[in-house]
Amino acid sequence: MNDNIAVIELTAATLRFLDQTRLPAEAVMVETTDHRVMLDAIRRLQVRGAPLIGIAAAYGVTIAARERLSETGGDDASFQSALLTVCDAFAATRPTAVNLFWALARMREIIARPLSPEMLTTELEREARAIHADDALRCGAIGRHGAEIIPAGAGVITHCNSGALATGGDGTAFAVLLEAHRQGKNIHVYADETRPLLQGARLTMWELQRNRIPATLITDSTAAMLMRQGRVLVAITGADRIAANGDAANKIGTYGLAVAARHHGIPFYIAAPFSTVDLSLPTGESIPIEERSGEEITRIRDIALAPDGSDTYAPAFDVTPAELITGIVTERGIITPPYTETLRSLHP
Ligand code: MRU
Repeated sequence: MNDNIAVIELTAATLRFLDQTRLPAEAVMVETTDHRVMLDAIRRLQVRGAPLIGIAAAYGVTIAARERLSETGGDDASFQSALLTVCDAFAATRPTAVNLFWALARMREIIARPLSPEMLTTELEREARAIHADDALRCGAIGRHGAEIIPAGAGVITHCNSGALATGGDGTAFAVLLEAHRQGKNIHVYADETRPLLQGARLTMWELQRNRIPATLITDSTAAMLMRQGRVLVAITGADRIAANGDAANKIGTYGLAVAARHHGIPFYIAAPFSTVDLSLPTGESIPIEERSGEEITRIRDIALAPDGSDTYAPAFDVTPAELITGIVTERGIITPPYTETLRSLHP
């Protein structure tokens, strides 16, 4: 990310990450040697965004290996089973983004190797760093492919945060915006605030400003009117899981944005790496949707936004049906319908 703020970084001694719950007020790095701190950080969205939680879990497993190695000095018959339990704990943090399970599967493969605890720890670290570096490359490719779909001078709307704060590189949908901006396309971004946790307002606006991309913050409910006014030519968001038929789960509100885009004849794109594609699920109906505490919609910090005892329903994600998605920008190019065929044919 610009200005040298690391979002997540494994050093020889610790794991450091940016606490995203404190943005935009302050950029605070948390430093830990305890994998339980990372478990909690993922649950609390201090670290969030589909690819980034996969990377964070991989680093979390690595520091768990380091912890165990320093406690036992390497004489440890249960090293592998203990680390598999740690993988299970990371898998239980957030259910929707498949990147988490994809990264943990890579870590589990390493854990299964017949190696000493010292060797395994070295290999786990190497794998976690590879997952991180690999995502940065995918982000770059998504940006380059996706810039093609952004017309010069366009207003572009996005939802949630899909930038460096959500990935190991420049982002997914955000990388497309960044590349179009770098190419001098003179774009203007409209960022949905993204109720209830305000990833659009707090995080995307922060990243847009740091990259000097002209941008306007809107409430989620302003999006349809903006489209009607002709101020938006393209809508693009990231995704947390894409089923084999192209149905895509992303932050709650994305589905409504896609419906509004279709109504106004505006192309709606998803940008995501193949680590977000889950071919084991035939449609979006089987994507597990995380439900968050009702307090996230009834309170902002200490301020009550609703009467005590209000009934709530707080899904963190929704599924946009494939028929509303104009194209999926991946690191291997832009995929168009019929997704059941095109996703499978390009899947690595
Ligand atoms: O709950 P969050 O903040 O983790 O949700 C993040 C999103 O919905 C992003 O749009 C998604 O991860 C894709 S962008 C990398």
